[in-house]
Amino acid sequence: MDKSDKPSTFNNTVAYVKSFIKDKNVASVTPTAANVVRQICDRIDFSKDITVVEYGAGTGVFTFEILARMTPGSRLLTFETNHELAARLMNTSDSRLIVTEESAELVGKIMRENDLSDADYVLSGIPFSFLDPILRVNLVKNTYQCLAVGGEFLAYQASWLMKDTITEVFGNMETDSYLMNLPPMFLMQAKKVG
Ligand SMILES: C[S@@+](CC[C@H](N)C(=O)[O-])C[C@H]1O[C@@H](n2cnc3c(N)ncnc32)[C@H](O)[C@@H]1O
Repeated sequence: MDKSDKPSTFNNTVAYVKSFIKDKNVASVTPTAANVVRQICDRIDFSKDITVVEYGAGTGVFTFEILARMTPGSRLLTFETNHELAARLMNTSDSRLIVTEESAELVGKIMRENDLSDADYVLSGIPFSFLDPILRVNLVKNTYQCLAVGGEFLAYQASWLMKDTITEVFGNMETDSYLMNLPPMFLMQAKKVG
């Protein structure tokens, strides 16, 4: 990744607020705070080649942190349905990154199309509360399917809405909260055990 690819915090916030005004699915008025991004990324083992899938990249605050930490042999598949935000990410000159404007529930299909084997991590920032309840459950099931055994799902949200569904599908759950983020954020982490 070229350092010039990474937009400044100011440019990120401006782009994000513009998209938030036009697209309700953007859901949060500002990108996740840098210290929260770092703390959540600390939960990922970047010491070896991994495949990471990201749902709802926004301006790419997690995308760029992951690229900065990932090994040269790792891959990152990023979903972002907002056209303007996806287009910004598509300008990134890093061959490890694939950006798609498709919706995250198509994760299995898009991984196959890009010859990606099972994911080691799926990181999600999409607003599950805006999705149809059946779609929410399907998305968690599709996520489980696309993970390798031992792989982990990390969903950060402004609510605990998905806690029960994720626990039911994965059979386990670890949580954390970041109350100083705007809005306060809750992390649900679950592992595919077999
Ligand atoms: C709350 S924002 C999080 C943005 C960023 N990850 C962050 O932490 O600042 C949610 C993002 O998910 C995107 N999004 C919403 N529904 C989606 C879906 N079904 N598939 C992929 N992206 C989606 C929105 O366009 C928005 O950019």
